[in-house]
Amino acid sequence: MGIIGAGPAGLLLSRMLAVQGIESVVLENRSRDYVEARIRAGILEQHTVDTLREVGMGARLDREGLEHDGIYLQYPGTRHKLDFPELCGRNVWIYGQSEVVKDLIAAQLDDGPPLLFEVSDVQPRDVDTDSPSIAFTDADGVAQVLECDVVAGTDGFHGVSRPIVTAATDGQLWERTYPFAWLGILADVAPSTDDLIYAWHPDGFAMHSMRSPSVSRLYIQVDPTEKIEDWSDDRIWEALATRMALPGWELQTGPVTEKSILPMRSFVSSPMRHGRLFLAGDAAHIVPPTGAKGLNLAVADVTLLARALVRLLAEKETDLADAYSDKALARVWRCTHFSWWMTSMLHTHGDDFDAQLQLSQLQRVCTSEAAARELAEMYTGLPVAL
Ligand code: FAD
Ligand code: PHB
Repeated sequence: MGIIGAGPAGLLLSRMLAVQGIESVVLENRSRDYVEARIRAGILEQHTVDTLREVGMGARLDREGLEHDGIYLQYPGTRHKLDFPELCGRNVWIYGQSEVVKDLIAAQLDDGPPLLFEVSDVQPRDVDTDSPSIAFTDADGVAQVLECDVVAGTDGFHGVSRPIVTAATDGQLWERTYPFAWLGILADVAPSTDDLIYAWHPDGFAMHSMRSPSVSRLYIQVDPTEKIEDWSDDRIWEALATRMALPGWELQTGPVTEKSILPMRSFVSSPMRHGRLFLAGDAAHIVPPTGAKGLNLAVADVTLLARALVRLLAEKETDLADAYSDKALARVWRCTHFSWWMTSMLHTHGDDFDAQLQLSQLQRVCTSEAAARELAEMYTGLPVAL
């Protein structure tokens, strides 16, 4: 197997295949430090945690991960807890994507398959034959060719794999860009809440997440044209405190250690395969972060893909490989809808009519068990194959 990209999708796929006795090489164009330092997703669904445990990646997650039994939905005057175990019998975990990636890289470099950082000019070749290859230049500047049976394009949204699949299959792309972005901060302060808070406010959405008992992760909705230099730490804390205000509750502030503005989009590319090139994770789809689905979808894709590849390479049966794209896309579209719905319900946009519709929807989720259960089932994660 040739695997392009050492994000969570590529690293986990390599690990899953190694457990099944299938060799792979992972090619990553960034440095190890860069990949490990990228701050991204924070919520792991039940199936993601189960999958990581199954491949021996559960030790630090079980020690340091924070198991959460729900989230708060807030709108002015109300902060309502959705109790996930009560609603759907499942939980979620807080364990940063950077920690998942660090664990996978450490295991891979310890006794796993080769993982090459800082490669360049990566180009999959002959993927419509049974003997594809990947041309690349290694970190020393030497041109190399990796001969493989299958290529996995787990190289994220800006990777080289998706354009090959789209061009060869006359594939379809769907995209929605949103008229807002998230300004996210990481702060050295104990979380001011026991569970995540998703807050609707006339000034815009705000969210309180966390990374550990002493590190908070917080977000506010901003215009996508905003410049981070215009947002002093004080201005950010003030916006957070206003948008999450609730009588008797106080937001604790602390030193901000990272801040950035993240654009938001939904994107789906179909099919997720051409010949012996298979796409997984952000290479094939992007969701806005409001539903906490990006990383979890990447894990679900590679769980399906690993099964299909074991069947193809070890048992010489093509059925699961042939079904991979359709199966993965069914889940992708469900999560795309959920992420779009959470985003649309919680971010201010449009006029006062839209605001009233949002508040009505939030009230419904906070008062109807059926509506709350649907959110809980989707948030905590669907089974891998629908
Ligand atoms: P990636 O993590 O993007 O990994 C792809 C890898 O491929 C990268 O290491 C990249 O360097 C490498 N690569 C790219 N091109 C090449 C090439 N040509 N050759 C070799 N290697 C290549 N999701 C949430 O659920 N919650 C969040 O809060 C959240 N925040 C996010 C913030 C940001 C800034 C971004 C970009 C994403 C965020 N996401 C979030 C989404 C989530 O992080 C992704 O869904 C997840 O990283 C997908 O994993 P992946 O392995 O498919 O892709
Ligand atoms: C995060 O902790 O970064 C996080 C949590 C939940 C989300 C998005 C981001 O929906």
